[in-house]
This record gives sequence, C-alpha cells and structure tokens, in this order.
Amino acid sequence: MSIKAIRGFKDVLPEEIGWWQKVEGIAARILDNFGYKELRVPIVERTELFARSIGKETDIVEKEMYSFSDRHGESLTLRPEVTAGAVRALIEHNLAADGRPVKLYSIGPNFRYERPQKGRQRQFYQLNVEAYNVAQPYIDAELIILWTRILDGVGLKDIQMHINSLGCSSCRPQYNRKLQNFIKDRLETLCEDCRRRYQTNPLRVLDCKSRGCAETVQEAPLMLDELCSECGEHFQAVRKALASADVSYEVTPRLVRGLDYYTRTVFEAQTGKLGAQNAVGGGGRYDNLVKNLGGPDIAGIGFAMGLERLIMLLSEDQELNNPGPDLFMAFLDEAALELAFKLANGIRAEGFRVEMEYTPASLKSRMKRAGKLGAEWVLILGPEEMSRGNGILRNMSTSTQEEVSLDEAVTGIIKRLKGDKV
Ligand code: HAM
Repeated sequence: MSIKAIRGFKDVLPEEIGWWQKVEGIAARILDNFGYKELRVPIVERTELFARSIGKETDIVEKEMYSFSDRHGESLTLRPEVTAGAVRALIEHNLAADGRPVKLYSIGPNFRYERPQKGRQRQFYQLNVEAYNVAQPYIDAELIILWTRILDGVGLKDIQMHINSLGCSSCRPQYNRKLQNFIKDRLETLCEDCRRRYQTNPLRVLDCKSRGCAETVQEAPLMLDELCSECGEHFQAVRKALASADVSYEVTPRLVRGLDYYTRTVFEAQTGKLGAQNAVGGGGRYDNLVKNLGGPDIAGIGFAMGLERLIMLLSEDQELNNPGPDLFMAFLDEAALELAFKLANGIRAEGFRVEMEYTPASLKSRMKRAGKLGAEWVLILGPEEMSRGNGILRNMSTSTQEEVSLDEAVTGIIKRLKGDKV
C-alpha cells in the first residue's frame, strides 16, 4: 500500500503554485515599499517559548501544539505561529539595540493540531509581519494600510478589516474584573472551557464560538468603554491615521484574539466566504511580550495572514495566468534530437522558456502537446525541411509559419520570438 500524506497536511501541486508565487511576489514587493526585511526563523523552537508568549490557557497551547521530546529529552514544538520565534530572534541577535524601528516579515509553515475543515489545516502557511520599537500609533495604521495594499494588490474583494483595542496593563485588569462579574452571574449559559477559563482569562469568553457563550456576551461590558486615557488616545490616533490613507475598517468592540500577548490595538481581516473560518488573518500590538521573554522593554506589533485561506478565496473568483513556454521543440525523428537539444539550450540561455520532450513523435502529436502546454511558438524539425538546412517556425496564435535557416538558428529564432524584423 502506498503511503499518503498525514490528515491536515497538504501538498501544493505545480498547477496551484502560480497562486503562491503571485501572492508571495506581490506581498514581497509591497513589504519592500514599506521597508520590511525578510526574517527566516526555525520551524522548531523550545516548547517553553510558545507557552510563555501565546499563553498557557489558549487553545493553541492547551490543545493544538505539536510537541515532542528530542533525543536528549528536551521538549520542542513545531511552531504554531511565527511571532514568538521572531521575538526570540530579535532578543537573541539584539536587533533592536540601536533604538530604531525593526520591521520584519516571514513566509512559512506553521502547525496546529486542529480539526481539519475548509480553511483549516494542521500545517498552514502564514505571511507574518512584525514591527518593533515603535510606540506611536502610526505603526498600527502602517501595518493595516500595508496589509490592505497587499489584499488589493492580489485582487481580493469582499474583505472587511475589523479593529478594536484591548487596553493595557493599567486599564485591562479593571475591565477584566467587570467582565468576570458579568460572567459570574451567567455561568450556566457558558461552555465548559469558558466556565473554567473566565477566572484567569475572561476575554477568551468573548471569542468563544459556542452558541451559549456568543449569546451571553452580547450584553457584556466592552473594553472600548473602559480604556484609560492613553489607550483611548492611541486608538483615536490609529483611526485618524487610517482615515488619512482612505483605508476602510469597522470598529468591532467584541473583537478579541486567540493569543494572550496582545495589548491595545487588535485587528482582523474577515470574509463571509470561508464558513466558520472567517479570518483571513489577524494581529495586533503586543507591547509587553519582548520584555516578558527576557528582552528590552520595547513595543511590538504585527499580523499574520493565512495563505491557504487567501488563495482559496482568490481562486474562487480569478483565473490564474499560467503562461506556457515561449517555444516548443517539435523534433520528429531521432535524427533531429541532437540538434533540437542544442538549439533548446541555446535559446533557454537567452532567457526564453523552451520546452522539449525526448522521445520522437509525429507532427500531429507534437502540435497537440504544444497546444496543451500553451506554447507561443513551435519549432518543427522534420526530415523534409531539415534536408534544406531549415526548420519551420510556427506562431501558434496567428497560425502562420515560415522556414528558418538552421545555420543562424538561435539568433534567427530569438529575433522572431522577440518580434524583431528579420
Ligand atoms: P492567528 O489569528 O492565530 O494569529 O493566525 C493568523 C491567521 O493564520 C488566521 O487568521 C488564519 O488565516 C491563519 N490560520 C491560523 N490557523 C490556521 C489553520 N489551522 N489552518 C489554516 N490557516 C490558519 C497569529 O498567528 C499571530 N501570530 C498573528 C500576529 C503576528 N500577531 C502579531 N503578529
């Protein structure tokens, strides 16, 4: 019996890869415009890093991590997200030492042991973007603007940006108590997880997908009404900066995130088209995380977008532009193989996409294959024209063809491929 991929783990096949290359290419260009540099961090980190950053009582840490002991008995984990590793790298390499902004992005796989369904896998890719050392609200807006530009750049429609503020260590504790008091009187309507968690982490109840919890929190007090003056001003300044860039968003006071490190601004890009998985991505500010992980007391903020979800949405309403070869080599018999091979490599060396197969085939079958591949040109090397020292160059879109001399083959063909006058 053949071995299959693990449930929740998917191959990205050559026919789909164009989407990935398109999205990653556009994102990298826009990130470069905004001054973000790529950071590549390991896929495996110490388990403790995630427990200390994402939070012990989150779904991710409680139920979803791929953790294992290595041969020395050390507990390691396949990263469930990138932020923790990015902060670890920032501290370890002293990247923020000069007090200037540090702006980083990463693209790569993450692992969470969730129940696979539409838009949810156990291995999934994220585009992850982070900025450190910037306390000003402009960076919150910059990230949301940058993200909006990426979504526009790839052509994604019907996406709504939601923003909220979760306050800081001076106003959140007071709000948490208020929320706990509200919840305490309604415990019987909550799911088992929330009944247990509300004492230590009441914000999680606002995020719970179970019906009873979602209905109960409709009336719950809102963090936005309890922000301290600094957090309130910060939030207003983010909104003002977003307005200056004409970015549209909605203030969603019940928006909380599934990870514990957030402070102040949080944001999510949502769609109605992915069933229960409505978030294309999310993020927010995490001003205490760098310090809590043993680094300097500096601000952090970022977001991550799920690339499978993004690509699923794109492929629902766009055609992928998958260009075929510039030239297909239609050699017909063994005698022409050597020359065809030489020509193909000569033309490739000039930067053209040239496709050739190595078994002889009839003209009919070659033309069928060239059509299937979407080749723009076909060079036919049959015995008749070759006996005259020529090949036939056929333009597949105009269905016109002409004989070209094989002596000047590479240069002559290239001129024609480029559309130059011969
Ligand atoms: P997150 O909300 O856990 O945030 O994940 C961000 C995005 O990753 C989700 O909105 C979704 O698109 C995608 N995603 C998450 N889990 C899955 C899954 N099982 N299958 C497919 N896609 C998934 C974070 O990870 C934070 N680190 C974001 C961040 C960066 N905050 C600050 N900086």
